[in-house]
Amino acid sequence: MRSINIGLTEEQRQGVIKLLNHDLADAYVLLVKTKKYHWDVVGPQFRTLHELWGEHYETLTENIDSIAERVRALGGYPVGTMKGFLEITTLKENPENLPLATQMVESLVEDHEQIIRNLREHIDNCSEDFHDEGTADFLTGLMEGHEEMAWMLRSFIEGESISSDGQKLQSRQKVAAGV
Ligand SMILES: [Fe+2]
Repeated sequence: MRSINIGLTEEQRQGVIKLLNHDLADAYVLLVKTKKYHWDVVGPQFRTLHELWGEHYETLTENIDSIAERVRALGGYPVGTMKGFLEITTLKENPENLPLATQMVESLVEDHEQIIRNLREHIDNCSEDFHDEGTADFLTGLMEGHEEMAWMLRSFIEGESISSDGQKLQSRQKVAAGV
């Protein structure tokens, strides 16, 4: 087979491929969890959350395809089985739970934040350990997407009044709770 000559050593390429496969597994588990909540959610926010999670599902589907195809572009093979994903993902499934809408949001925020922390570390690994600025840039874009999705979700559970200078006023949650 023709060797790949793109300025990365074999060790560097394999290191990056391994990181990408971990990110692929996390994205796939989050995809499934997001879709499940898209189906299960009930309550006054049903329509908004149902639609938001439908959109996030589409974004995650595109991300997954991009991650897997980047693995191929670097000469590797993406993990492509549920068993394989579950073996290396850093996320946890909660199959027995049918949580309230706010708990679903909280759970997905935690997952996005876990992925953001992982990606931040992988970006450093790519540029510092493996000298692969291309993948570092690619992962930076993914991280920014997760930051945006996490912000959208967080906005459902954070109720704070903000003054015109950006300072937080009293939390609406605390007001509602009479604190
Ligand atoms: Fe749907």
